[in-house]
Amino acid sequence: MMFLRNCWYVAGWSHDIAADSLVSRTMLGEPIVLYRKADSGVVALEDRCCHRLAPLSRGRIEGDDLRCMYHGLKFAPSGKCVEVPGQDLIPSTAVVRSYPVVERDCWVWLWMGDPASADPALIPEALGHDHPDWFMQTGQLAYEANYELINDNLLDLTHLSYVHEKTLGRNSMSWGESRPRVTPIERGLRIARWVVNNPAPAYLGLPPETRTDMWASYDYMVPGVFLLATQSHPPGTAAACKMEARSAEPMWRVLTSQAVTPISERQTIYYYSGCLSRSYATEDHSKQQIAVFERAFAEDKAMIEAQQRVVDRTPERRMMILATDGALNQFRRLMAGLIETEQQPPSRPAERRLA
Ligand code: FES
Ligand SMILES: [Fe+2]
Repeated sequence: MMFLRNCWYVAGWSHDIAADSLVSRTMLGEPIVLYRKADSGVVALEDRCCHRLAPLSRGRIEGDDLRCMYHGLKFAPSGKCVEVPGQDLIPSTAVVRSYPVVERDCWVWLWMGDPASADPALIPEALGHDHPDWFMQTGQLAYEANYELINDNLLDLTHLSYVHEKTLGRNSMSWGESRPRVTPIERGLRIARWVVNNPAPAYLGLPPETRTDMWASYDYMVPGVFLLATQSHPPGTAAACKMEARSAEPMWRVLTSQAVTPISERQTIYYYSGCLSRSYATEDHSKQQIAVFERAFAEDKAMIEAQQRVVDRTPERRMMILATDGALNQFRRLMAGLIETEQQPPSRPAERRLA
């Protein structure tokens, strides 16, 4: 399976991992168990005891350690076995894999590659999460589809006018006709555009006749983290500033952070938030926003899973490339390049001399 390993993946919401609970996840095909230590720090271990391969998620938390409840081996957060019932000697092979974990912005991030290169500075910064000035609602959705099709979907938002005609698109072609500017950034792409004459969102309690010019800019980060901020201005603003970004205060802003994490080659989990500022929105607006998002993301899921079934039935058929596929093709190339680089064996000095 071809996954990028040396990067941070969202393993869940902080609130998914309660104290004294064992949460099992499959990420990149690997079984993982998550739990909290006494100081509330999250531990991520391979969910497979090294003895007879029983899942540790059926185990018992003992202080900071986790005991397999099949024959009682006890593991420290490092993955090292620290107790073997019935024998004094602990074999050096009695160890399970331990994953570097960082909890940040209400997300639990796991480094799936070489632990020595796990750099928390590479974690993308979620927008609005856990910020006192913003309402935040969260959700997640499991897909029967490869993660790349979901990245593709999020990298081409012209689909809002079609897939989300009745929800986010509000029967308008404003997204479908928008043309984004795509700029490479460190480990990602920045995709920005004016969405001109855009109907105001239903969840703010505004009628669809209310139009705005909306500046929508997002960073799409490796391996599939979507960080979108939109700023709505009065109609005519886009033309007045010659389609450049406007610095003036918008009428309102909307933030959403989303993350795509592969479970396996054909299964993916998608985490998303909706964030509205307390300066213009009520809690009720915020609940309505996530309800619209839930309906819209179910529309994406239906389309993408159907697309996956067609792809699987006719694997020989190639996709064609249109102008609107610019961002998704750049991102696929970025990911493919990173995967290729990390799969190359480190070259030894002697080999380098021969080359
Ligand atoms: S399978 Fe875990 S202790 Fe035997
Ligand atoms: Fe969508």
